[in-house]
Amino acid sequence: MTERTTGAIEKTAEETERTTEVTERPPRSPAVIEPFPPALWADAVYSRKAIPPTLAAGHAAPGHSDAELDPLPPGHRLPLAPPPLHLVSSLGPSPAAHAGAARLGHQTGLGDPAVIAALLHYSYGLLHHDLSPGGWPLHRAVASARCRYPSELTLATLTTAFRFDPLHHQLIDLDRLMTDGQSREPAASRFAVISSRLARTAQLYGDYAPRLCAQEAGMLLGSVHLVATALGLRTRAGQDRDTLDALCAGRLPAAEHPMGYVEILPCADPPPAAPRRLPSDLATVLRARHSGAALFDPVPAPAPRALLADLGAALAEAPFPDFSCHLLVRRVADFAPGHYVHSGGRLWQVRDGDPLTLLEQIGQTEGRVSVNFRSTACTAYIAVRRGTAVSRYGADAFRRVHLTAGAAAHLICVAAARHGLSARVHNGYDAATAERLLGLAPDDETVVFQVAIGKARPGAAFRLPVVF
Ligand SMILES: Cc1cc2nc3c(=O)[nH]c(=O)nc-3n(C[C@H](O)[C@H](O)[C@H](O)COP(=O)(O)O)c2cc1C
Repeated sequence: MTERTTGAIEKTAEETERTTEVTERPPRSPAVIEPFPPALWADAVYSRKAIPPTLAAGHAAPGHSDAELDPLPPGHRLPLAPPPLHLVSSLGPSPAAHAGAARLGHQTGLGDPAVIAALLHYSYGLLHHDLSPGGWPLHRAVASARCRYPSELTLATLTTAFRFDPLHHQLIDLDRLMTDGQSREPAASRFAVISSRLARTAQLYGDYAPRLCAQEAGMLLGSVHLVATALGLRTRAGQDRDTLDALCAGRLPAAEHPMGYVEILPCADPPPAAPRRLPSDLATVLRARHSGAALFDPVPAPAPRALLADLGAALAEAPFPDFSCHLLVRRVADFAPGHYVHSGGRLWQVRDGDPLTLLEQIGQTEGRVSVNFRSTACTAYIAVRRGTAVSRYGADAFRRVHLTAGAAAHLICVAAARHGLSARVHNGYDAATAERLLGLAPDDETVVFQVAIGKARPGAAFRLPVVF
């Protein structure tokens, strides 16, 4: 998969050397369990066979207990600075901060504790406490199926690793017991590493969990990349297996799987300005992001036309470009309803007219329409080249294409939030029908995300912002 660098500066020889140093670490041991068996495509994407019948009642999946499976790893805890209320690029490395950071050896722009706090909190922090009875109480910066949050975020180098604990807004030093004489400072981190604790989601979803976890890892990667860019950091998102394994070797608790990373590159001098397409205060937008009520039944109101311009700009800068986004537009002000495709930075129309029939044929779960498409503004389907990826990467294609698509899906959710709209990732769709009706390349392309967008009805939910 192609990977994009933000910050508009080419890799220096020094960076090439350092990245090579990471990739030349020994490959993973063959004993590592592969979490994404080829059967997942059939059982969790083309059908929902992997979902246990116990899910409907919210009970534990057979073979999985309710016991707490996964306390965070032990280690010395470091408090994080309070996250700033507003997220603006001036927080990132200013020329003076850059010079100071370089003097101290903090070359990635993470020398300011406020930048680390902002990066972690707005990428994956706890943002809302939902007090509605029977709801899921804790909501983070990224959507998660039934709020299980299987993804983990760690700031790392090859010799240091600091796990983010969003609940306490702290870091945990995972290598505290190592005595290699290296200094251990989060400020020296060069990678934000994403891993996944499948068991957390498998407690409810059983064998369907790997699909959700792969999707969510991608969404978290998109989130880290977005927030880092807004902070003026230079980044390169990565999927490379060997780099991941080198960064995670000996550090992850059993059954936690390395998924992806965002490399934080040395500061540019002068630092890059945050791209203009970002909202002027991304923090406010991220606090407004939500997935809507339990049943996605929005108000049938048109979305502003600027939503589509923002969606296009966000997708054009997604961390990995190898996807296309099919937009079925129903209600957008001054925009003709129809089927549009965004790919390679361009948007074009495939078909005009109300796409309701298409939506109701694709967006089905066991014969029932999944969300109220009659009142949505538009729905995005993210398609990836599954066939090409499988022939190139084998079983690892599953992780890779979901990272690519998940990162784009999060950007769609944030673009919706910018206009006060909710965006619902919903896996209740039929992948084979989507391929056929959206005209995807036979035996190659498939849809791995459905995201419905609409104006949320005022509901019973009562969410309080969390402030550390
Ligand atoms: C990968 C993924 C799959 C999801 N699938 C469904 C789904 O099939 N049905 C549904 O109602 N919600 C689904 N959701 C929505 C979540 O339940 C929702 O994100 C969660 O309640 C958190 O809400 P928040 O995003 O407002 O914080 C999914 C979310 C994710 C990230």
